[in-house]
Amino acid sequence: MVCTSAFGGVHLEGKPEGRFEMIPQSFIQDLLNRLDVVDVVERYVPLKKAGANFVACCPFHNEKSPSFSVSPTKQFYHCFGCGAHGTAISFVMEHVGMGFVEAVEELAKSVGMVVPREERADAAQRPKVGTDLFDVMQTATRYYIEQLKQSPRAIEYLKKRGMSGEIAKRFGVGYSPDGWQNLAAVFPDAPQGVRDGESAAALLPYSSKTLVEVGLVIEGEGSKRYDRFRDRIMFPILNGRGQVIGFGGRVLDKGEPKYLNSPETPLFEKGRELYGLFQAQKAIRAEGMALVVEGYMDVVALAQHGVEYAVATLGTATTPYHIQKLLRMTDQVVFCFDGDAAGRRAAWRALENALPHLQDGKQLRFLFLSPEHDPDSYVREFGREAFEHLLGDEALPLSGYLLRELSAQVDMKTQEGRSALLEHAKPLLLAIGAPSTALLLRKEVAALAGISQAELEGLYGVKSVGAPPQIARRAPQKVARSAPAGGLRALLRCLLAKPDLARELPDSWTVEGEGAETIMALIAYLGEHDFSIGTAALIQGFQGTSHEAALAAAGVDVLHWGESFEVEAEFHGVLEKLREDARRQQLQDVQARIGKVGLSGLSEQDRALYLQLLQRG
Ligand code: UTP
Ligand code: MN
Repeated sequence: MVCTSAFGGVHLEGKPEGRFEMIPQSFIQDLLNRLDVVDVVERYVPLKKAGANFVACCPFHNEKSPSFSVSPTKQFYHCFGCGAHGTAISFVMEHVGMGFVEAVEELAKSVGMVVPREERADAAQRPKVGTDLFDVMQTATRYYIEQLKQSPRAIEYLKKRGMSGEIAKRFGVGYSPDGWQNLAAVFPDAPQGVRDGESAAALLPYSSKTLVEVGLVIEGEGSKRYDRFRDRIMFPILNGRGQVIGFGGRVLDKGEPKYLNSPETPLFEKGRELYGLFQAQKAIRAEGMALVVEGYMDVVALAQHGVEYAVATLGTATTPYHIQKLLRMTDQVVFCFDGDAAGRRAAWRALENALPHLQDGKQLRFLFLSPEHDPDSYVREFGREAFEHLLGDEALPLSGYLLRELSAQVDMKTQEGRSALLEHAKPLLLAIGAPSTALLLRKEVAALAGISQAELEGLYGVKSVGAPPQIARRAPQKVARSAPAGGLRALLRCLLAKPDLARELPDSWTVEGEGAETIMALIAYLGEHDFSIGTAALIQGFQGTSHEAALAAAGVDVLHWGESFEVEAEFHGVLEKLREDARRQQLQDVQARIGKVGLSGLSEQDRALYLQLLQRG
């Protein structure tokens, strides 16, 4: 059975060295065939039939009229308002906040299927595809883990910081040795060919631009290349499926920057990812709480001491996307930032970004440690129980924190101070999406300022019941590649709607132009699966890749096609047009050469081509 990397993951936890447990791709396909996305969505959101599709108000953003569509024939959903899209599996992941594996297990159970697991030595059986960016990251991760074992100095550093071997393993902590091109050891420029047990990514040479693309290698002046991470403790950053998408690297001694993070890459977008979320998912649901901290070391130390539901932002402020993601998983989020000034600023930013996404019944709280502590040092010194005690007793509810900060900024004893309070509070209160929370806060702010609730509402221009609904638009889909346009977009639509059409393409068929990479990736993927993959499995296979957005855009077009739409005719029409375009382009190129060198100056080959092109036209 073939396992594709699109579903593969580095499951760092508890697996024997070098072996990963995989859900076979064919199972994902069977599961998606067995499920009905309409049923699955309907378990959570009531749907109404509208033409060929089903619609509802989108569960992922606030809206009054339905822009969320589910296609029963194509088995995917798309929201025209916020861009949420995907299959039955992604719906459960997004809506319930489950990880990929968990969502697959849950859905399989619901239709009486048992998830088979395959254990296999690295990527030995993996088909040699172009090169998957995830493979590259995985190869690097294993290299760094291996290097840690060989560096007494790095081991000593981690020991000194109290990190256990077990927890280092769980988080895949590694070490990037000193030196400029160490990664060339696993990405050799003169590959020997794939031997058994060697990963396909090993075929990638150090000079490949892919290594630059994923942020592992930096290209300096005069195309000199060197490793981004040198002499650093490496923390792999995983996505929701447990695939490595980036790294944070800490210096061992003093040095700047203390942490070096992967740049934004097609795999990694800082504002969307949370460090440790993959490892913490289970605990977050079990405890009914997520804890947001600042640092890599905080997450790791907390987990080591049994506080397993912590995640960290990645050197950025807490974004609205982070907050939405966590609030989908749990009703309680506690922010615990360092006790220093930077920590306080970070907390306030988190509050501001959270306001539009508050929901009645969900609780956000803020815990401030004393300035000399961060969660790492606190939990190491006092242990889990003391830390959780603080969480329970000292974390301020969002409203309390908001009011405390607002009144600390002004002199509440004077009229000017109270009036300034009203001014400062206005944009914050108006940003709150949750009606009851907003109402209660208006009451409290009014009381603090010594006016009535009605007066405050008059002053802010709000109707007395509830705040205006906030459109919680999703961060726009990242378009890591340019999406196909024109004929290519039409082709992508057809292939998405009826993937087995790709069978009809000649063996070495290629296209060029804007977005061609997506089409070529799609065809390669289909080819690996005997062209027998359905629309939903195809969408699922590309989730989280740089082609996701292009596929989603094509999905929108497909949603609009009626039942009687003739996909095959469209497909053949598009192919014909692409062929014609290519012919015209070639003809223009030859004619340009003729313009330069004259007909007699043409090479034998060009002359033959010219004649051929003329005859076909
Ligand atoms: P801290 O400086 O508080 O780090 O930065 P820490 O986790 O407590 O580090 P240790 O305990 O000294 O190892 C908090 C977070 O901010 C980001 C990192 O994500 C870090 O974990 N950061 C910090 C950077 O991205 N770059 C830096 O240079 C420093
Ligand atoms: Mn620290």
